[in-house]
Amino acid sequence: MSQPDVIALLKKAKENNNHFTFLVGAGLSAESGIPTFRGEDGYWVIGSKNYHPQEMATRQMFTKHPKEVWEWYLSRIKAYGKSIPNEGHYALVEFEKHLQGQFSLVSQNVDGLNLKAGNSIDHFYPIHGDLTFIRCFNECSDELYKIRDFFNPEEEITKETFDRLVCPKCKGITRPHVLWFDEAYDEKFYRLNSVLEIAEKTDVLFTIGTTGTTSLPHHIFQTALQNRTLIIDINPDDTIFSQVLYEYDNGFVIREKSGSALPKILKRMKI
Ligand code: OAD
Repeated sequence: MSQPDVIALLKKAKENNNHFTFLVGAGLSAESGIPTFRGEDGYWVIGSKNYHPQEMATRQMFTKHPKEVWEWYLSRIKAYGKSIPNEGHYALVEFEKHLQGQFSLVSQNVDGLNLKAGNSIDHFYPIHGDLTFIRCFNECSDELYKIRDFFNPEEEITKETFDRLVCPKCKGITRPHVLWFDEAYDEKFYRLNSVLEIAEKTDVLFTIGTTGTTSLPHHIFQTALQNRTLIIDINPDDTIFSQVLYEYDNGFVIREKSGSALPKILKRMKI
């Protein structure tokens, strides 16, 4: 399918009141200077051992080394605090306005940049959580607290920082509001059921800057294939999604960075 064809299909889908879902991953934030998950992200040292993010971001590791795991997250929160949304994030804000109620944004990113750019919380599904929030580790309640009320990303991390990271209700330990690798998706924190419903009603699926390796994104993609949904993948590299789309007659692969591809598509949809 050529690019003019896909723009015509997108315009027609909008006119027909079809539902557009944007599934985004770490690639969307790459142009804001945030390393992708599976890129050269480096290790984290505890004692004399090096750990991968996949080992750090687990309930098991937090239970054994809460301060060290918190320190790792706080260093990421400091980096995210300095980062600003890029053209891809801003294009998604404009897509939301253009598509009105026909829009859902399903994000695997925990950097908070989609809301910082201006997407509304009403159509936003942060399926892996959001590092701008913390919650009670023991779940004395489901309440989310803003990290900024406990920690300023500008400050140095000291022993006193950890003393402040206590649950306001039960005074027990808190945890970052993110899905760990040894945990399961649920509705109350990660909107699992809502996202499964969105996947079923999606008529146009954009997959943007993601390798599609986690189970819920994979399910959204599979549902779209089964429903013969129009799928557009935006990524400078091949992924398991694009490999499938090359063989799918209602799919389109755009080999480009999201910061340049998304504004162009939107502009052409509006003409
Ligand atoms: P990955 O790091 O696996 O993939 C990032 C993708 O972004 C790659 O396919 C890159 O080619 C692409 N990319 C890089 N720069 C880009 C750009 N400027 N524009 C568009 N694409 C670009 O990140 P995710 O797929 O998001 O889960 O990883 C998914 C999940 O894996 C994460 O949320 C995390 C991890 O397991 C949890 O923490 C539960």
